[in-house]
Amino acid sequence: MSKLIGVLTAGGDTPGLNAAIRGLGKALFASGEYQLIGFKDGYRGLVQNRFLRLERDMLTNVVSLGGTMLGTSRDKPHKMSVGGKVMDMRDVIVENCESHHLEALVCMGGGGTHKNALKLMDKGVKIVTLPKTIDNDIHNTDTSIGFDTAMGIATEAIDRLHTTAHSHHRIIVVEIMGHNTGWLALGAGIAAGADVILIPEIPYSVEAVAGSILARHRNGKSFSIVAVAEGAMSKDEHDRLQKLEEKKSSAKNKDKKQDAKAEIGEFHSERTDHTINLTHQLEELTSLEARVTILGHLQRGGTPSATDRLLASRLGTMAANEIMSGRFGNMMAVKADGIVPVSVDTVAGIKKYVPLDHQWIDTARRLGTCLGDTEIKY
Ligand code: F6P
Repeated sequence: MSKLIGVLTAGGDTPGLNAAIRGLGKALFASGEYQLIGFKDGYRGLVQNRFLRLERDMLTNVVSLGGTMLGTSRDKPHKMSVGGKVMDMRDVIVENCESHHLEALVCMGGGGTHKNALKLMDKGVKIVTLPKTIDNDIHNTDTSIGFDTAMGIATEAIDRLHTTAHSHHRIIVVEIMGHNTGWLALGAGIAAGADVILIPEIPYSVEAVAGSILARHRNGKSFSIVAVAEGAMSKDEHDRLQKLEEKKSSAKNKDKKQDAKAEIGEFHSERTDHTINLTHQLEELTSLEARVTILGHLQRGGTPSATDRLLASRLGTMAANEIMSGRFGNMMAVKADGIVPVSVDTVAGIKKYVPLDHQWIDTARRLGTCLGDTEIKY
């Protein structure tokens, strides 16, 4: 009798997910011992037992398809909103897995997905995970499905902004995704030759940025491209947030913790327009005309790059190999040239920030890029 494997995609979609599902399915089917079902819309579909049987011919012509054929959501199994109430639905998931006689579940996702996978593993579900996020912020893996495509899209966008900034002698500020990390902005910023790159790992001084732009101007460069990670913060904002975080972690009781959490929430909602505000500040400080472009979800849409298709195919087939070897509880991680299993509990709950001594930061500085902490003289 053939064994049944479940697969789901959770968190923000990324180009390359369909290639990973295809890789997993093809490698499992080739053994002749497995069948595959896909749960719809992430962990929510697993709770609601909404699934589709993935047949061989459904994996044809999907390697180049963006998004995810299974749909996705950001639901957490242990804290799911059901009929207006937040409930722990993990026992329902266990029942559903048992009713299918599921051999194992493959979860493709980012930081949240890995935390959720660990919570299901605590309930005895056999899981294998794949790293997927455009943010490249998953711990214990060199990269993740979707990052290369998003970096390519952001790079091309900055290239296009360059020509119009140049023609109009303007500052163009471009906001790049990445959640609380700067991988995407730094990678695309370097690749597209941005003049200023601001990332969350390096709190910036707006005066240093304006000073660097003016110095460029004095040197005959009448335009500047400022690539800003969505999570980038000024030094003041960074210090404020740190104080709020300290307040939260030292809170003596539940109410105080709740208050501190609410203040952090307020801090983030006040920052919704921070890239637009930064653009106005730069215009004021430099007396140069400035425009802002927010790339948003464009960075996650459309066709996966060749690199992501290759990576997703390698990860998908290696997940199948892991299952066939009877090993569970691991993420298939990218390490140098290889794919290796690493325990999910060494991944979940840990964010991979850009280390301050990372070579990309060194490269940007050597190129004369302003990273917001010091003024570049040019
Ligand atoms: O995690 C991927 C990501 O695209 C982040 O870069 C961004 O902060 C977030 O998702 C956006 O989330 P949503 O699609 O839910 O608005």
